[in-house]
Amino acid sequence: MAIPFNDLRLALEPIRKDIDRAIASVVDSGIFVNGPNVEKFEEAWAEYCGAERCVTYASGTAALAAIGFCLSHSEKAVQVDARTIPNTMIGLQQGGVDVVPTDDIVAFHVGLYGEYLWGPWTDACQMHGCKFGGEHPQLAAWSFYPTKNLGAIGEGGAVTVIDRTDYQRCLSWRTLSTSRMREVEAAALNVKLPHLDGWNACRKSLAACYWECLSVPPVVEVDAGNHHLMAVLFDNRESVQTALTKNDIGWKVHYPTPLHIWEGGESRRGECPNAEWHCEHVLSLPIYPGMTKEQVRTVCDVVNGAL
Ligand SMILES: Cc1ncc(COP(=O)(O)O)c(C=O)c1O
Repeated sequence: MAIPFNDLRLALEPIRKDIDRAIASVVDSGIFVNGPNVEKFEEAWAEYCGAERCVTYASGTAALAAIGFCLSHSEKAVQVDARTIPNTMIGLQQGGVDVVPTDDIVAFHVGLYGEYLWGPWTDACQMHGCKFGGEHPQLAAWSFYPTKNLGAIGEGGAVTVIDRTDYQRCLSWRTLSTSRMREVEAAALNVKLPHLDGWNACRKSLAACYWECLSVPPVVEVDAGNHHLMAVLFDNRESVQTALTKNDIGWKVHYPTPLHIWEGGESRRGECPNAEWHCEHVLSLPIYPGMTKEQVRTVCDVVNGAL
């Protein structure tokens, strides 16, 4: 039986009626952007994250641009872990900062490997439900892309802030960039938010099952992070990919191209050897609420057989 990389319908099944009702009420209201659902979600998300305020956008990339806009008033260049998704770099650049890809794991990092070194600002686009070690960073960017641990029905993003000046700048950026969250997305997110902790607990138990059954050393502690991705490092990634495909099991690579190569092409290969190694060996296995432990064990059998 096929095991997809993700199936977003499973988590929605038990709350489907509430989602339908919330979307219908937006259509009935005739208010499609910056209305009461967006306002409610901004308050709820700021509170959930332990921030003072939240400003929503149409995507996580737009939220990163807003962070870039805030930072460009104080910092000209920022270092970004070269292993991360190119949207991090592109978003910040759109906001006016120079991005320097680095081979180090810097304060600004995604939730890929459970390395949460919270800096004054963070790309938290994969970190829904991760705790900020007691204190919210000055600025955090969020994505509500449908596959995220808290995902919209379409796309969405936000910045959470603790500072009034940053809040005003984030609002200005929304006006300048015309990147707004739609009411439909906010209405769905308001229904979904109370379920986030339960979905994360489900991901955690699946991750624990993976690390118990896989014959490779764990990349992250089960207690670390929110298990957005089940990222595993393999010496022989290609054989594992081939075996998974042959058995109708989904996989993805997060991410295949390090930032300096995105930016400058192959001539820059060698500049960030650790990041390049990661991009060549990392592989994401299926993990999502509604997936069963039996399915996890099936994936592990196929992977272990290919090692
Ligand atoms: C770490 C990280 N940063 C930025 C983004 C960009 O977010 P969006 O796709 O909502 O623009 C993503 C989304 O995939 C992400 O995972």
